[in-house]
Amino acid sequence: MKVQIIVGSTRPGRATLNVAKWVAAEAATIEGAEVQIVDLKDFGLPFFDEAISPRYNPDRQPTAAVQQWLDTVATADAYVFVTPEYNHSISGVLKNAIDFLTYELKQKPVAVVSHGGVGGARAATHLKEILSEAAATMIPSGVQFVGYVNQGSLIDEDGKLDAAIKANPYGPQGAITGMLADLKWHSDALAAAR
Ligand SMILES: Cc1cc2nc3c(=O)[nH]c(=O)nc-3n(C[C@H](O)[C@H](O)[C@H](O)COP(=O)(O)O)c2cc1C
Repeated sequence: MKVQIIVGSTRPGRATLNVAKWVAAEAATIEGAEVQIVDLKDFGLPFFDEAISPRYNPDRQPTAAVQQWLDTVATADAYVFVTPEYNHSISGVLKNAIDFLTYELKQKPVAVVSHGGVGGARAATHLKEILSEAAATMIPSGVQFVGYVNQGSLIDEDGKLDAAIKANPYGPQGAITGMLADLKWHSDALAAAR
């Protein structure tokens, strides 16, 4: 399974990158997993401004930055989108990046890891709907990391969880193990079907 961990914010000092590093380290423990962190910050995507909806435009000519984003996403079998909650939804940069996609996620499993005051639950709910429209297969499980991970010591810059959080089976550490097992199951099943 080639799994990409998509980093859903780009601002300086963002906490989502730390959460993504934790997810990547956990995913790397799955046998046969090839893990790649895909950071939206690396692509420098413009605001979406194509005259025709990408899925209905066979003559589309994406800019180099957009093409790199599309080509990168197309290479994976499975995805974990790591999202912050901005004003009860996902960040503008993440929504913008998704709007460029056509069928890169089609028939592939996607999980959502969110964080925020209520675990980013509202952002996660929105993101699942958005990614469903992008033809992804959303898996039933996910992780809602409760807390403002940019403040305090819940997780460090290397993606290492606070010891007490890591030990709590009902916290994010307990949730991610099942979520990744679920992702792998769906990845294997869908890869065979594709
Ligand atoms: C523009 C903005 C809006 C936010 N809105 C919410 C919100 O609605 N709910 C919430 O729980 N946290 C909210 N927060 C706090 C974020 O959960 C926190 O800043 C988190 O670190 C954001 O992820 P990032 O550091 O990767 O950008 C908001 C933060 C920003 C910058």
